[in-house]
Amino acid sequence: MCGIVGYSGPGNSVGPIIEGLSRLEYRGYDSAGICLKINDELQIIKKEGKLDNLKALINEQKPFSHTGIGHTRWATHGGVTTDNAHPHGNELFAVVHNGIIENAGTLKKELQAEGFVFKSQTDSEVFLVLLTKFYKQNNNTLQSIAKAFNTITGNSAFVIIEKASDKLYCLKRSAPLVVGDNKETREAFVSSDPFALIGFAPRIYFPQDAVICESIVTDIDVKINFYELDLSPSERYKFQSNAMTMDSTTKGPYEHFMLKEIHEQPSLIEKLAAYYIKNQGRQILDSLKSYRPTGWHLTACGTAWHAGLVIKNYLEQINRQSASVDIASEFRYKNPILNKGEIGLFISQSGETADTLACQELCKENGIQSFSIVNVEGSTLFRNCDQNFLIHAGVEIGVASTKAFSLQVLTGYLMSRAMEGTLDDPSLFKEIKLLSNRIGELCSNVESIKEVASEIYNKKGFIFTGRGKYFPIALEGALKLKEIAYVHAEGYAAGELKHGPIALIDEQIVNIAIVGPELFEKTISNIEEVKARKGVIVIVGPKGSSELEHLSDYYIGLDFEGLPNLSPLYVNVALQFLAYHIASLKGTDIDKPRNLAKSVTVE
Ligand code: AGP
Repeated sequence: MCGIVGYSGPGNSVGPIIEGLSRLEYRGYDSAGICLKINDELQIIKKEGKLDNLKALINEQKPFSHTGIGHTRWATHGGVTTDNAHPHGNELFAVVHNGIIENAGTLKKELQAEGFVFKSQTDSEVFLVLLTKFYKQNNNTLQSIAKAFNTITGNSAFVIIEKASDKLYCLKRSAPLVVGDNKETREAFVSSDPFALIGFAPRIYFPQDAVICESIVTDIDVKINFYELDLSPSERYKFQSNAMTMDSTTKGPYEHFMLKEIHEQPSLIEKLAAYYIKNQGRQILDSLKSYRPTGWHLTACGTAWHAGLVIKNYLEQINRQSASVDIASEFRYKNPILNKGEIGLFISQSGETADTLACQELCKENGIQSFSIVNVEGSTLFRNCDQNFLIHAGVEIGVASTKAFSLQVLTGYLMSRAMEGTLDDPSLFKEIKLLSNRIGELCSNVESIKEVASEIYNKKGFIFTGRGKYFPIALEGALKLKEIAYVHAEGYAAGELKHGPIALIDEQIVNIAIVGPELFEKTISNIEEVKARKGVIVIVGPKGSSELEHLSDYYIGLDFEGLPNLSPLYVNVALQFLAYHIASLKGTDIDKPRNLAKSVTVE
C-alpha cells in the first residue's frame, strides 16, 4: 500500500504533507515525492529510496506552497526509480495513486498511438494522461476526472491537484481514502489513512467508491463537496471526528516501533478483555450467544491467516463448529462451496488488504453474512462487513505484525466463549490476566532469548515446528523471522518433518521446536529425529524439564501452567522477541523491512 497525503490551506503545505508521509512511510517506502503549486505552476520533487531522500531535497530547496500532494510508493508496476515515483504530473495536473490500474497496458498503447508521451513505466501515469486528454476536450476538471475514472479498471485511489486552482480532488474504488478539514484553520486534507491526519483534521470523511471529493479553501472558509460520477451531489460518505491520539506515532524509549508494540501486548490484552467482557464491547459479544451458523469460512493473509488457524481451533474444540481457514488470494479464485447459514469471518489488521476484501465481496455476493476481526475502524473491510469485532490494538506501525496477531486471536477466543455463554466464567478473565502477566514477565526477562539469538543468528536456515495449536505459531514465528531478518525460515507441523523437510537438516539448520504440555512425548521424538542429524535444537517449551534441557542445544523455558487455551499467544511472544533480536544482530531495517508494505492493497 502506498502513502498519500494532500493539503490545501493558508499555511505551507510542505509541513503537513511531509509529516503525514512520515507517519505512513511504514506502509510502503520504495520512493517518495511531492508536488507543490508554486506561482501557478505545478512543481514536482521526487526521489527513489526512503522518505529521508526526499526530505533532504526539500530541506535544500525550502519550498513554500499553499497546495500540494505527496506520496510514498510501494512499487507494483515499474521499477524503483525517480521517474516511476509519484506524483506524476504535467503542465495541467499532478496525480498520486494507490492501487493498480488493471487495464493500464491497453490504455497506454491506445494513448501512445494518439501521440501521448509517457515519462514512466507506471500504470498510475495512464490516469494522468487520460485526465489531461479529456480536459483538453471539455475544459472541465470534474468531468475529466469522472471520465478518466470510468475508463480505468482495478482497485485505486487517486488524489489530483491542478494548475487552474488550489482545489484538492480525490476519489477511489476499493482502496482507502479519507478527506479531512479544519474549520478553525481553514485547511483541507486528503490521505490514504486517517492516521496521517491526526492533529491536523478534527473532522474526517470516508467517501464511498466512485465519489469525487472536491476540497475548496477560500479566504473565509473551507468546504468539501462530494459528487457522483455524473456530477450530481453525493451523500455517499461517512463523517466522523478524528479522535485518534498522537502518542502512537512515537517510539518512546524503544529502539523500534516493533519492540514497542511487542511490549504493549500485556496491557492491550487486559484492556481488550475488559472491553469485551465488562464494558461497551460486551453487548456485541452477547449477540453471539448460542449463535450456531452452519459453518465458518475464515479468510485472511499472512499473520492474520495464522491468527485464523488458531481461531479455527477454538471454533472446533470449544464450539464444535466446522471452520475452514483459507489464504484469501487462494479462496477468492477457488470457486468455494458457500452455503446459506454459513459465516464469512475476515481477519485483517488494516482492513484494506485487497485479497481479503475481495473474499468478503465474494461471500456477500453469495448471501453469506460477513464478520470481521479488524483493527482499523472505518477501514474498507469494517465498512463492508455486517458485523465487526474491533481488536483495539491502536496504530500498528511495525510492518511485521505483533500486537495485532495477539489481539486478533484473543478476539476470536472471546467470540468462541461468547457463543458458549461463558464470558462470565471466572476462569476466563483469570486465564487472560495470567497470560498478560506471563507476557509481561517475558518482556522484562528477555536476556535468555537474546543470548539464544546471538548463538544462532548466523545459521543458514530455520525450521519452526509445533503440533496442534502450536503449529500456527510455528508458521507465525517463521514469518516474523523471514520478514525482519531476511533469512530462510519455514514453519512445519512437527510430525511432518520426516516426510521430506528432514532432508534439509544439518549443523547449519536450526530447529526452533515448540513443545507444549500436550503431545509432549510425540513432539520429543520429532526433535530426536532432528538431533540425530546434527540439527541445532532450540526448544521453546515448559520450563524446568531436565529432558528438554538435555535434548536441546538452547532451551527457552516458559510457564504454561494455567493457560489451557491461550498458551499459543505466550509462546508466540517469545518467538517475536527471538526474531527481533536475530534481526537486530543482522542489522536489518526492523520497522520497515525491504520489499514489504504494511498493508497490501493490491492483488
Ligand atoms: C505480517 O507481519 C505481515 N506484514 C503481513 O503478512 C500481514 O499480516 C498481511 O499482509 C495481512 O495484513 P492485514 O492484517 O492488514 O490484512
